[in-house]
Amino acid sequence: MQLQPPIINIFEKAARKASKNLLRDFGEIENLQINSKNIGDFVTNADIKTEKILLETLKYYYPEATYITEENNNIKGNDETFVIDPIDGTTNFIHGIPLIGIVIGRIFKGEITDGVIYNPILNEFYWASKGKGAWCNNKRLRVSKRTDLINCVIGTGIPHANRTYKNYLDEIDIITKNCSGLRRMGCASIDLAFVAAGKLDGYWEKNLNIWDVSAGIILVREAGGKVTLPNGNEWTIESKDLLATNSIIHEKINKKLNAI
Ligand code: IPD
Ligand code: CA
Ligand code: CA
Repeated sequence: MQLQPPIINIFEKAARKASKNLLRDFGEIENLQINSKNIGDFVTNADIKTEKILLETLKYYYPEATYITEENNNIKGNDETFVIDPIDGTTNFIHGIPLIGIVIGRIFKGEITDGVIYNPILNEFYWASKGKGAWCNNKRLRVSKRTDLINCVIGTGIPHANRTYKNYLDEIDIITKNCSGLRRMGCASIDLAFVAAGKLDGYWEKNLNIWDVSAGIILVREAGGKVTLPNGNEWTIESKDLLATNSIIHEKINKKLNAI
């Protein structure tokens, strides 16, 4: 078993501390203690509370760092950047669907070096650090070995409301006709964690933010997978779209997506 690097211990401490309130809030939603009129404010508060605890803990250890968070303005510091999504999968959270993640990533010189995703509902703690592998609850993660797209389960994000884009139905159409099933988890970090764990063979989504994907990308890479833009070009920390796979089926999917 790989010993957790000190930075992952700190991320874990922050995520587990923040998860206590979140679990309570999830319980209230599950037990229908919140009426639908108040749910928006309730969840916004849950997001803000969680982010506050994460920031407080991380800032204690890394007071000089730069912070990019979903709910607050960025905090400009040194070259070490921490990226935080306090609740990835907010819609799942609101609906009592237990696929959510507290996400923390570290970026240094344009490269993601470490990340954690903690799902407090399922008590799954994922972490990865460059050169140290990808892990979930002390178990090493490896991407799947499937080679034929037709046997693969592929994740995606289905855009909704004003987030739809021109070709998304064509993308879904061409992939779903060529695989053994499409999945929409509603939580980009968990989609990526599932690729790392070999549960999904691939996943693509557009219009994401760095806090959705930072930790998941290093998990996929450290589990032996590949991450690029959906068209096969290099993914950088400024990118919004991505394709993550077990690497074996990567070209097959990106050719299909490019054919549209
Ligand atoms: C969202 C989730 C979702 C993805 C959206 C993200 P949020 O994050 O990751 O799966 O499809 O694009 O914005 O809003 O729940 O933190
Ligand atoms: Ca998110
Ligand atoms: Ca969020």
